[in-house]
Amino acid sequence: MQFHDCFIRGCDASVLLESKGKNKAEKDGPPNISLHAFYVIDNAKKALEDLCPGIVSCADIVALAARDAVALSGGPTWDVPKGRKDGRISRATETRQLPAPLFNLSQLQQSFSQRGLGLKDLVALSGGHTLGFSHCSSFQNRIHNFNSTLDIDPTLNPSFAASLRQVCPMHNKVRKAGATMDSTATTFDNAYFKLLLQGQSLFSSDQALLTNPKTMAMVSKFASSKGKFEKAFVKSMIKMSSITGGQEIRLDCKVVR
Ligand code: HEM
Repeated sequence: MQFHDCFIRGCDASVLLESKGKNKAEKDGPPNISLHAFYVIDNAKKALEDLCPGIVSCADIVALAARDAVALSGGPTWDVPKGRKDGRISRATETRQLPAPLFNLSQLQQSFSQRGLGLKDLVALSGGHTLGFSHCSSFQNRIHNFNSTLDIDPTLNPSFAASLRQVCPMHNKVRKAGATMDSTATTFDNAYFKLLLQGQSLFSSDQALLTNPKTMAMVSKFASSKGKFEKAFVKSMIKMSSITGGQEIRLDCKVVR
């Protein structure tokens, strides 16, 4: 959620605003349909407004919640620099600026560099894919009609590809079908990088990290050291969460003041 917030108009909680009238908000843009648990942010905001009204921005709550989700899953914790402001604009069309799971390395690199983030940030933050779940549509391209000659992405481990095809058939009708992001999807660890090296990542954008010697070396480093991954992840999260935007402190995270 924080990644989707920060990449559009900076870390300004624009992702939390609800569509209103003719304005379709980011939340209702295609890449954000799978975002959930907005109630966690709303509950935190309510508790804070009771204690110290108008002081803590929704954008700071998103940053703190991201930190806590990582820590509660067994990952590192860190001090979150605070003071973000909430934005007043949220447009679904702008979610097209989010990197897509089909992106190759140069597309990913460009998207990150436009936001002041480098290759190390790209690799470390992709490690966020140690947690959670993906719907079939996000990796469909790799397991059916991959290109004009191959049905399956040849960089995928064959038995892993077969298991993905079983849960995600060509004409999948099960809306919730998909796969966990790695084998330990509720634990923040470096299994994602280990699996990536074995052809067991879900997205083309994950696989893309192996297509450049620099990013490949970082993947290997993080696969062999959970500690080095955690250190790099924390540094990059602080960097990503410092992308500025926003002008006010909302009273309700769903609506502007
Ligand atoms: C590098 C560019 C990235 C791309 C292309 C990308 C793409 C995706 C896609 C397509 C999904 C699955 C959506 C679905 O089908 O439900 C996903 C899930 C996820 N991503 Fe990323 N992502 C990127 C970076 C990040 C970053 C930087 C983080 C956090 C630091 C992150 C954390 C997550 C998490 C935790 C999930 C699981 C969500 C859930 O369980 O609902 N991703 N990502």
